[in-house]
Amino acid sequence: MSKIAKLDDIVSLCKRRGFIFQSSEIYGGLASCYDYGPLGVELKNNVKKAWWKSTVQMRDDVVGLDCSILMHPMVWKASGHADKFADLIAECKKCNTRTRVDHLKEKPLPSEAEGVTEQAAQHTEHIALDAAMAKARDLSNKVCPNCGTVGRFTEPMPFKLMFETQMGANVDDSMTMHLRPETAQGIFANFRNVLDTTRVKIPFGIAQIGKSFRNEVTTKAFIFRTREFEQAELEFFCEPGTDEQWFEHWKQARFDWYINLGLKKENLRFREHDIDELAHYAKGCVDVEYKFPFGSGDWQELEGIANRTDFDLRQHQRGIRTLNKWYESDGDLTNIELSNEAEEYLKGPLSYFDDQQKKRYIPYVIEPSAGIDRSALAFLVDGYDEEEVRGETRNLLRFSPALAPVKVAVFPLVKKEGMPDIAKNIYNDLKKHFNCFYDEKGAIGRRYRRQDEAGTPFCLTIDGQTLEDNTVTVRDRDSMDQIRVSTDQLTNDLRKKLDM
Ligand code: GAP
Repeated sequence: MSKIAKLDDIVSLCKRRGFIFQSSEIYGGLASCYDYGPLGVELKNNVKKAWWKSTVQMRDDVVGLDCSILMHPMVWKASGHADKFADLIAECKKCNTRTRVDHLKEKPLPSEAEGVTEQAAQHTEHIALDAAMAKARDLSNKVCPNCGTVGRFTEPMPFKLMFETQMGANVDDSMTMHLRPETAQGIFANFRNVLDTTRVKIPFGIAQIGKSFRNEVTTKAFIFRTREFEQAELEFFCEPGTDEQWFEHWKQARFDWYINLGLKKENLRFREHDIDELAHYAKGCVDVEYKFPFGSGDWQELEGIANRTDFDLRQHQRGIRTLNKWYESDGDLTNIELSNEAEEYLKGPLSYFDDQQKKRYIPYVIEPSAGIDRSALAFLVDGYDEEEVRGETRNLLRFSPALAPVKVAVFPLVKKEGMPDIAKNIYNDLKKHFNCFYDEKGAIGRRYRRQDEAGTPFCLTIDGQTLEDNTVTVRDRDSMDQIRVSTDQLTNDLRKKLDM
């Protein structure tokens, strides 16, 4: 039975082995920002590659895109983020700590165990503002998570989540811009460009991986919720009326993706959003949840799959028609009302003409939206294991080969009898095909343990027998079994084992 990792185990392994470091550590660190070290960047790249392979490369109906992080201010007006992308917060009057209202916990009844009771809304990333407002009427029994004071909060107020920055060097033409809080809007803004430059026909999807930024009120649990993170998003455009069917399709496809990359089925589940949790753009949403061993010690969102209907394309049609008002207001978004010429929607550039059915419509969108950092954390947690081997603890990461930062480690048993030269040749040959690691220092057992802890699926050792019959040992990380493989078969053998 594998050991259930605690968050501390993961944080300490990540630091010790160079997966993840606190940002700006030499200056004491920057809260909620993290850097990926040599092993971490390989892991993260592999998560991205695996997502891109299954979402773009292996499908005929999805194309890729890479949009800029900074976008025209009207994008965020039209998408609703400028007005609605906020969390409701309240400030403790005693210690001035601001907390998300839906994260405040009730004071426990005297009969309840120590601590405070968990609230169902703790599961959610962002509860819709209107619903949060309705729920926030009575904070008299809520506890400040910082100082423990009960019921002494300010009136709840919306806290905007988008980071602001200034663009332009001159005072006259500098503009307030926002760092994107989701990658999705770049896809909607390029819908027409993709239609006009490729042969895609509905149903089809546009996929993108990239950084997003949110000035989260509460960050937590290592890389689980941070202010700068990477998303992998697919906007899948389909004919209205076929959306429910595509929603089911993507739900299953995304669940299977995690399972195929090794997450244990018992640690994954779906959770439907309640109506009051739905984001302002969604008709329906289901989360893929993972049983993370921290926070409320419970199931938490790994990915959201939403039916965004035609909301975004319609909103951008309205946005385009409102552009003049934006110029007239000198770039001030506050009082701009989006154009509402309903009858014009179908004529706009974001509509689609189906030349088979000879009809025009605004496509519906199904959006699977995954967090790359959060997935990497789930793979770390799920792969983590500790075993007793001959009286010693062996730490290992049981990564699927596709995700393992290093696929093959190559060792000469000893630094003599020409073994390092043979090992180096093998290493130089194999690294053309896989990410490999060469190590000739220390006892062989220690070298194996270091690779187990890095999640390396296979270690090759060049030993005395290699000099006689040109075979090397191939050691399997999980079983620790060793077999001998002829050096001229190595590449093919490893390819099969690694499925690459
Ligand atoms: N475009 C839809 C969208 O952005 P979301 O549920 O807000 O939906 C999708 O985000 C995914 O992005 C989440 O399931 C999570 O994996 C990841 N994510 C969101 N906020 C995050 C944060 N602050 N830190 C790390 N990952 C985050």
